[in-house]
Amino acid sequence: MKVLIVGSGGREHAIAWKVAQSPKVDKIYCAPGNAGIGQIAECVPIGAMEFDKLVDFAKKEAIDLTIIGMDDPLVGGVVDAFEAAGLRVFGPRKNAAILEGSKAFSKDLMKKYNIPTAAYETFDDAEAAMKYLETSEYPIVLKADGLALGKGVLICQTKEEAMDGVKEIMLDKKFGSAGNRLVVEEFLTGREVSVLSFVDGKTIRTMTSAQDHKRALDGDQGLNTGGMGTFSPSPFYTEEVDDFCRKYVYQATVDAMKAEGREFKGIIFFGLILTEKGPRVLEYNARFGDPEAQVVLPRMENDIVEVIEACIDGRLSEVELSFADNACVCVVLASGGYPVSYKKGYPISGLEKFEGKEGYYVFHAGTKLSEDGKMLTNGGRVLGVTAIGKDLKSARANAYEAAGWISWEGMYCRSDIGKAIDEA
Ligand code: AMP
Ligand code: GLY
Repeated sequence: MKVLIVGSGGREHAIAWKVAQSPKVDKIYCAPGNAGIGQIAECVPIGAMEFDKLVDFAKKEAIDLTIIGMDDPLVGGVVDAFEAAGLRVFGPRKNAAILEGSKAFSKDLMKKYNIPTAAYETFDDAEAAMKYLETSEYPIVLKADGLALGKGVLICQTKEEAMDGVKEIMLDKKFGSAGNRLVVEEFLTGREVSVLSFVDGKTIRTMTSAQDHKRALDGDQGLNTGGMGTFSPSPFYTEEVDDFCRKYVYQATVDAMKAEGREFKGIIFFGLILTEKGPRVLEYNARFGDPEAQVVLPRMENDIVEVIEACIDGRLSEVELSFADNACVCVVLASGGYPVSYKKGYPISGLEKFEGKEGYYVFHAGTKLSEDGKMLTNGGRVLGVTAIGKDLKSARANAYEAAGWISWEGMYCRSDIGKAIDEA
């Protein structure tokens, strides 16, 4: 089989690495990919939003299966474009990717189908939002309705902050048209857990749990980022939590989408918060998490291509997922200054130390090759150094050992990825 993966981050590198292990696969392409992905796939210079070019490429190369890694093309309808051309593709259609593409949609869906989530109100108009916020309880959460690179959520401690937030999102359009609508949500407290799942329209199979670290600095300080590291499994995702979510969240979401005429095939990512009153859904994503994929996929024992094909063909009920009884930690190595401003183009040293070391992986997020073949930094998040261990503590020790092998000018990483493990 020939497989095309669409995207260019650490998540797509992890997907490509997992796909490469399938005995069914002869050749992998990635559009646009990065230098690390280029070591196991042929990267083609087509952007993830260039649907016509992607479809033409897939037809010309007789691609058997295309896997969409990123949210933007899914929400924009890339799956519909592939299906219209008679191509096999994995991901939700546009009418189902709205589960991630519109927070107002997902909140209304949860309300209508009694899926536990934070109380909320939706506003199309800044004045009405501000009036509502006059008498709200604080802290409160403001969310731009549309996609905003994971940055469209503001936690406001005071009325003043909330008023500024409404102005930023709805009037100044800091996140563009994503801010045409605003969701105002009750502030919840608790541990966050990410649960990813495969869905075939009717059946859902959840993967092992993971936890992300969104803030830039140790102790969850600093600005929000795309994710500075992950661990899997989460020791806080107990059997009790799993039972609750099986009863009230997972299948309920798939059934709700079907009932709305928006059958979902692809990955549903449940962003959960474990409150005192029980688990609540904070958000849905319509794709693998980044860097959740980097810790979940190395633990997955199935052939991912078989699972994906079962989703596309609507026979996921015949598949059982299996995850190794171990743990995995990913530490993101970032460019100095990320997520604000940073320089690119520094040579990276130490990558050769990963060669031949079982259970140690380096997934590339922002790298490129120089003309003379040196690996250079090319983004804010540069590498996801990932290691397996028999348990979370040893996986964390291994991941930090491996992070120590790598260096470049200005490199930084959090030193407390997985610290929560000690409190479990
Ligand atoms: P989201 O993009 O909706 O996942 O929000 C990003 C982050 O904001 C989440 O991972 C949480 O840390 C935080 N967040 C979102 N909604 C809430 C809420 N209702 N209460 C507390 N924190 C929240
Ligand atoms: N790590 C969070 C996300 O992929 O949205």
